[in-house]
Amino acid sequence: MIMFKKKQSLGLRVWHWSNALLISLLFLTVFLRKTFLSVKANTNAIMMKAQEVGGTLTESQANDIARMLRKAMWQWHPIIGLAVVALLLYRAYLYFTDKKNAKISMEGKPLLYKVVKRNYILFYTLLTVMGITGMLLYWDDSLAIDKSTHNFIKEVHEFLMWYFPAFVIAHIAGVVYADRGEDRGLISDMINGGDQ
Ligand code: HEM
Ligand code: HEM
Repeated sequence: MIMFKKKQSLGLRVWHWSNALLISLLFLTVFLRKTFLSVKANTNAIMMKAQEVGGTLTESQANDIARMLRKAMWQWHPIIGLAVVALLLYRAYLYFTDKKNAKISMEGKPLLYKVVKRNYILFYTLLTVMGITGMLLYWDDSLAIDKSTHNFIKEVHEFLMWYFPAFVIAHIAGVVYADRGEDRGLISDMINGGDQ
């Protein structure tokens, strides 16, 4: 039974691939922060290297350098994040204007269809929370957010993060599976718009 194939509007396709690219870039910033640009690992590496070349750096000096390196990369996280928020607003605009193609309707559909579509709604909801918490963290000074509130917001933001890689893995597996079955062409429809 063909379940997911439908015409995809140009607006939704542009939104989809721009969003996929930006979410992947956001993952990249998080990955780099936690691996190659980890302050903890680099503080030790910098101290060891300084010793090797005959100098000495205190832990706090080495820590400063490691933070500086991470900052040069991490500054892109909120910038890309704000671009994702802008795209999310565009998606909301499509919801209201592009009635035929950009609305998620589940009436009289099978269970799997409902599960998949409800998961999209969950994706939009959690992305909204990520956007709001991210912006609160970004503008915490201007908003006079105190340290303990900041930490709480950061914990929410960091915890919810885990949903996104799980979504992307399940999503890609799901659309590949559907495209190999009766929804043949589903993926290229998201590129060229499709014909049914
Ligand atoms: C970071 C990566 C990605 C994210 C966050 C993402 C997100 C989404 C979302 C939220 C929707 C629902 C759109 C709507 O109806 O409102 C969607 C649909 C879709 N995506 Fe992705 N996507 C990603 C990557 C991909 C990739 C790599 C492919 C192709 C291999 C793909 C193929 C599709 C297809 C075919 C649909 C329509 C399927 C359906 O109607 O259920 N996506 N995507
Ligand atoms: C799917 C989307 C997002 C993911 C997966 C994500 C992931 C993360 C993670 C893991 C952290 C904690 C880093 C750490 O301390 O180790 C973080 C912090 C942060 N994020 Fe996001 N984020 C997303 C969206 C956003 C958005 C939309 C914004 C909007 C501006 C944003 C702005 C920030 C800011 C300002 C911080 C605090 C950094 C700091 O305290 O130094 N993020 N994000």
